[in-house]
Amino acid sequence: MRELIRPLIVAPMAGGPSTPPLVIAAAEAGGLGFLAAGYQTPAAVEDELRAVGGAPYGLNIFVPRPAPADVEPLERYRQLLQVEADRYGVELPPLRLADDDHFPAKVDLAVAYGIPLVSFTFGVPGPDVVAALHAAGSAVLITVTSPDEARLALTAGPDALIAQGGTAGGHASTVDPLAYRGTATAAEVLAAVRAITDLPVIAAGGVASAADVRDLLDAGAAAVQCGTSFLLADEAGTRPPHRAALLSGDYRETVVTRAFTGQPARGLRNRFIDEYSAAAPVGYPAIHHLTAPIRAAAAARGDQSALHLWAGTGFASARPGPTAALVEDLLP
Ligand SMILES: Cc1cc2nc3c(=O)[nH]c(=O)nc-3n(C[C@H](O)[C@H](O)[C@H](O)COP(=O)(O)O)c2cc1C
Repeated sequence: MRELIRPLIVAPMAGGPSTPPLVIAAAEAGGLGFLAAGYQTPAAVEDELRAVGGAPYGLNIFVPRPAPADVEPLERYRQLLQVEADRYGVELPPLRLADDDHFPAKVDLAVAYGIPLVSFTFGVPGPDVVAALHAAGSAVLITVTSPDEARLALTAGPDALIAQGGTAGGHASTVDPLAYRGTATAAEVLAAVRAITDLPVIAAGGVASAADVRDLLDAGAAAVQCGTSFLLADEAGTRPPHRAALLSGDYRETVVTRAFTGQPARGLRNRFIDEYSAAAPVGYPAIHHLTAPIRAAAAARGDQSALHLWAGTGFASARPGPTAALVEDLLP
């Protein structure tokens, strides 16, 4: 597995940014790309696997979250969001509590295609899943945000861990979304995770320059996984309002919020975050489905104020261009 990992990994970014051309370009430039299976149908994932072909790459899969014990806070949040539904002229759907994001079918695809590297976020896959992937020749990587999560992940028998700092753009992989604050740097999570395992540990979060990459490799990271730095890549499928927001210079900071999806995630601070973060309950993916029509209507209007504009703390350094040039800029 160690020979498959290259020092720079282009992070899986579900919801559009990750595309087969991004993954292929990353590999051609000496990096390593991951396809993002999250939110997609298994058929769409399979199309992407075929499109990537023989390039070295990985696939990322969301582990299903446990159903919320109490739906009352979610119902209250639904009522609070009615004003946003009215503002954008959409209907709020009933709460959708059961959604495994086609987890078993996506694991089956990874097994069938013998994907070299399979990473997981949002939780720990069962030992049966890890065993099936190992039998198919895949290496298994699990994303963690703390030493406690690393200890839990190690019980599944992975081949490597991804230490995700609170500085990371997009969702935190944390299994403790109520307590999560997102204040730890990638270097801090890396050090804490390396203290409890000899497995390779990949560092992620807030990386914006070759110097940042070098520092994490010097601190013992097996590789550094960057997402935000590639959101403006020519080959990325980042949606137009998200690109426009990153390029606008209008945003001063990123914050961690559950407002959009019920799982902590870091994004550019906007009106929706300011108005709803304090009230937002834990409840992925129910809150993700609940706010989806609002976000879709806002996107259709080019209105960034109610969009989840995921980005890490290094967002101001993200720039457009071919993936090859962005990889070259980040390689130490
Ligand atoms: C738009 C976006 C989408 C993301 N989607 C995923 C995903 O589907 N799976 C995953 O494991 N991580 C995802 N991440 C998190 C990355 O794997 C990684 O932790 C993060 O990008 C690193 O921080 P950085 O964005 O500051 O480089 C996403 C990040 C962003 C910015």
